Amino acid sequence: MIKLEHIFKWYNIGGTRSFVIKDINLEIEQGDFISIMGPSGSGKSTLLNIIGLLDEPSEGHYYFMGEDVLALKPKKRITLFQSHIGYVFQSYHLIDELTVYENIETPLIYKNLSGKERKAIVGDMLDRFGIVGKKDLFPAQLSGGQQQIVGIARALAASPKLLLADEPTGNLNSKQGEEIMALFKQLNEEGMTIIQVTHSEKNAEYGKRVINLLDGQVK
Ligand SMILES: Nc1ncnc2c1ncn2[C@@H]1O[C@H](COP(=O)(O)OP(=O)(O)OP(=O)(O)O)[C@@H](O)[C@H]1O
Ligand SMILES: [Mg+2]
Repeated sequence: MIKLEHIFKWYNIGGTRSFVIKDINLEIEQGDFISIMGPSGSGKSTLLNIIGLLDEPSEGHYYFMGEDVLALKPKKRITLFQSHIGYVFQSYHLIDELTVYENIETPLIYKNLSGKERKAIVGDMLDRFGIVGKKDLFPAQLSGGQQQIVGIARALAASPKLLLADEPTGNLNSKQGEEIMALFKQLNEEGMTIIQVTHSEKNAEYGKRVINLLDGQVK
């Protein structure tokens, strides 16, 4: 499903290259459940953004579902993202001007679904995550944990083939965190490929394998 070959990412700072990702080679099969771990600043979010087609490496090759990603036109890349990827962002990235309901609905707009079908899916998500009572509120009216839950519901609404989750339980209490991990495990058993970033050994254990990053390299 995913093949990364000699991926580098650097930023030019004051005329010198500052490396964030250094020569990462990785193959991820459909149905895998991977936990990426590593200290703050080791490049976890950057790597996830590259895998999620939201950031471009400075060098290397990336194949996603058989497509040579870096050779694709931006429009095709966006379509590929919208069709197959659900993304839970570390800092939620909810759309401030949209209600909880509308935020969860956004990935469904790109699918060929009727208004009735969209309504049923959003209703199911609101129900499943216990946020029916929050559906007409805006992100600014929610707690951090509630925003995180909405971010997870949005990422899952369109039943993506690949779920990318950056610290998805970072702002949840331990019971909520365990529920989300149990849900991820169930979704993975049903066929969803999952890559999560986590600082928690316990959460990492829900996955099938762990990738440890240190200074932008796989240890
Ligand atoms: N636009 C940028 N310009 C320069 N450096 C950047 C830029 N974006 C990220 N970096 C650097 O890349 C490094 C890796 O950042 P990244 O967000 O991937 O780390 P992380 O492993 O996700 O950390 P955390 O656990 O704190 O979320 C950091 O040192 C950061 O300063
Ligand atoms: Mg990060």
